Amino acid sequence: MEVVPLGSADEIAATAADVFEAVVRRNSAAVLGLATGSTPLPTYRELIRRHQAGVGPSYRGVTCFNLDEYVGLPTGHEQSYRATIARELTDGLGIGADRVNGPDPSPDGLPTAGARYEALIQAAGGIDVQLLGIGADGHLAFNEPGSSLASRTRIKTLTAQTRKDNARFFSSLDEVPTHVLTQGLGTILAARHLVFIAVEESKADAVAAAVEGPVSASCPASVLQLHPHVTVLLDPAAASRLERLDYYREVYAAKPAWQGL
Ligand code: GLP
Repeated sequence: MEVVPLGSADEIAATAADVFEAVVRRNSAAVLGLATGSTPLPTYRELIRRHQAGVGPSYRGVTCFNLDEYVGLPTGHEQSYRATIARELTDGLGIGADRVNGPDPSPDGLPTAGARYEALIQAAGGIDVQLLGIGADGHLAFNEPGSSLASRTRIKTLTAQTRKDNARFFSSLDEVPTHVLTQGLGTILAARHLVFIAVEESKADAVAAAVEGPVSASCPASVLQLHPHVTVLLDPAAASRLERLDYYREVYAAKPAWQGL
């Protein structure tokens, strides 16, 4: 795990955008893993800004996989993660809806939705780079505390806390779905490169538990410690409870230029 303490959310956005662009420049048919929540938005805006200014790569050949999806929203609901990712990122990059995949929440298909999504990811050759945020309780995608570290895409029940946290996107708490489909922790571990981003004090405890705590289903994001290529991009507030913060700074300052992220 490479922990990179940065100065601000803007620096995180620029660095994460650099990583994604480098993957697409190396392979125009790259497979990108996308996350929702507020934290990735500055990164998405930066990718779109560069693309539209003509300095970013073409995304014509890429395929995308969303991390998760609500179950129970009407098709096309503006807060569905399919609609959110299109609005916040893929439309702006010129990636057609047919190249953006998400778990299928249609009621009749729920029993097979997880296995079908896993098969789609596999058929695409696996995910090259996956962007990840973290919930204040340490959840990754919608894998709530207690999720199996080996889990694959499946239906999950949200905790009361996560529904409350996400209520800001809906007109009332009652509108927040209780169920979701989410890539499992084992699915996430299979992506080739994980870019984990967190900002603000509200994430500091979860980040410390994920990065320096024991690997445990009680903190789903601690599973990242088992992955061979994780880049952790943090603002000062999110990094503030890390015990080895000075060491991470020292390592990053001395990082050889040829190494990249
Ligand atoms: C949701 C998403 C997660 C995201 C989390 C944190 O639960 N399923 O993928 O990491 O929200 O969101 P935010 O970045 O808004 O704090």
